[in-house]
Amino acid sequence: MIPREIIDEIVFRNDIETVIGSYVTLKRAGSNYQAPCPFHSERTPSFTVFPATKSFYCFGCGAGGDVITFVMRSENVEYVDALKILADRAGISIPDDKDERAESGVPRKRLYELNLAAAKFFRECLFDPKQGAEAMEYLHGQRQLDMATIKHFGLGYSPDSFWALTNKMTSLGFTEEELIAGFLCKRSQKSGKLFDLYRNRVIFPIIDTSGNIVAFGGRVMDNSDPKYLNSSDTPAFKKSRHLFALNYARKHCAERMILCEGYMDVIALHAAGFENAVATLGTAITSEQARIFAKYTKKVIICYDSDKAGQNAASKAMRLLGEVGLDVRVIKLNGAKDPDEYIKKFGADSFGRCLDDSKTGFEFRMDKILGEHDISIADEKIKASFEICSMIADVSNNVERDIYVQHAASVLEVPVDSVRNDVGRIRNKKLSEYKKKQSKDALLSIKNIGDRVNTDSAKFVAANDCEESILAMMMIFDEYRHGVVTGGIELTADDFVTAFGRKVFETLCELENSPGGYSRAMLGQRFSLEEIGRLEKIEVERRQLTRNDREVFDSCVKALKAQKAFGADVKGQDLLAMIRQSRADKQTK
Ligand code: UTP
Ligand code: MN
Repeated sequence: MIPREIIDEIVFRNDIETVIGSYVTLKRAGSNYQAPCPFHSERTPSFTVFPATKSFYCFGCGAGGDVITFVMRSENVEYVDALKILADRAGISIPDDKDERAESGVPRKRLYELNLAAAKFFRECLFDPKQGAEAMEYLHGQRQLDMATIKHFGLGYSPDSFWALTNKMTSLGFTEEELIAGFLCKRSQKSGKLFDLYRNRVIFPIIDTSGNIVAFGGRVMDNSDPKYLNSSDTPAFKKSRHLFALNYARKHCAERMILCEGYMDVIALHAAGFENAVATLGTAITSEQARIFAKYTKKVIICYDSDKAGQNAASKAMRLLGEVGLDVRVIKLNGAKDPDEYIKKFGADSFGRCLDDSKTGFEFRMDKILGEHDISIADEKIKASFEICSMIADVSNNVERDIYVQHAASVLEVPVDSVRNDVGRIRNKKLSEYKKKQSKDALLSIKNIGDRVNTDSAKFVAANDCEESILAMMMIFDEYRHGVVTGGIELTADDFVTAFGRKVFETLCELENSPGGYSRAMLGQRFSLEEIGRLEKIEVERRQLTRNDREVFDSCVKALKAQKAFGADVKGQDLLAMIRQSRADKQTK
């Protein structure tokens, strides 16, 4: 357990807008800030940061809470680890607790030190004229990387030995536990001794935007398998949240960035002057990575391998990058399998022209459909035409849709009107399906049906409204908490109808009575992230109301007690009537 004063200090020293601002670009909106939500894909910002209350809330997905909750969500860590990250950030040291350290593993800072020492060792091995001769010949000779590039990327070589790194790191004072946690070594089942994971490979260090070495990739120098070995996720590293070479590319990416597949592609591109290139780390692009792009640039040009797998991966990447609002282009290279090979064969200028000729998502998908069907065969032409029309039907802008219609008609060699009619028909069908689905969703969201955080709220609608008002006011205003606790008004846990409301009430009272008093920073220990988001929602909604005085509070308490006395349960019939009513309301709106 981290002492209460330290938790308060950590929250105090980490401005929520600064911390969140380092993850997303915040725009001022009155006294608050807004941004596209980092926790779900959206185009119009519904994510809001409230500096006054040191909290955030997304009106789109319901994520919310304080700075600790934000870090828990963003870094995908537990409460205690989020505190550690924030403590680190603010230069606060948390008193060492032996047991807890064992539980949470090796600190990430220590892993950075370990990785840095390992990278130095790998580099020394590469530059050692005897030991590194073969690897140097591979990188410099075969792959044609110049010395400056090799040094710039900190490339290295892991010797063909089971103990070279283990011995070196141990002599530098790193423990076995640290070597295992950093994914540099493994323990042999047979001998119980550690052995090196990277053996006889050229090494690519992966560096984060703060300059820490967070992981390694290692490539064999022949055709053996596996071609690459990559660090697994460690306490200092999550694959899905990093991009290779972003530490360099971020300084050259205001206009556009290039996304390619391989380490070698990125290195070749940087060496050829395209320093805005990055790659994912041996996995398909994730939505987290898409958001990283959105943070750094407006336009991404995808340049994946020209084979089928590469082109399919490009489709997926296009969708994810499009979802975060980026202008996405694709290039398909002709005459080379990947950018690295292309530049070697045709030169940097030619690649630059490819970039300028990159296709929009629409053109790319259309080419892809045409590539899958031989339109000189009638049947195939009908299939291709249907797929293309269906794709055009999804475009919401009328003018844009018409441009595509004309383009498709000329490519398919059919009359413009017939394409236009087909698109219209498909579009109407899609719209009516969409509406049906929407009203289903609306029905579910009507007054708490399908509420997973407070599962009682749909059954006890009125009581839940009272509870939310009471709890919100207790969270916002100290006086209501004092009042309740000192018995100024008679409200007890037994007055609560929903289990969630009761739990919140009990927690607020318990914290209020604890030596440190109530602090929202303590909530992360007691509630799940969803629950904290709900608490934030309740608070935000309450703040939007003008009256929060004693009279309102007391009448909510009275109403809640009355609900409880009546059994609170809305009858099945009432619920149905209510749903019909709110549907009618929605439709008249
Ligand atoms: P590629 O096979 O295209 O490799 O895989 P490459 O980077 O172009 O390397 P060269 O040119 O053949 O030397 C693309 C990326 O997929 C990941 C690596 O990140 C690689 O850079 N990968 C590939 C792996 O993680 N493991 C593998 O076994 C292969
Ligand atoms: Mn390659």
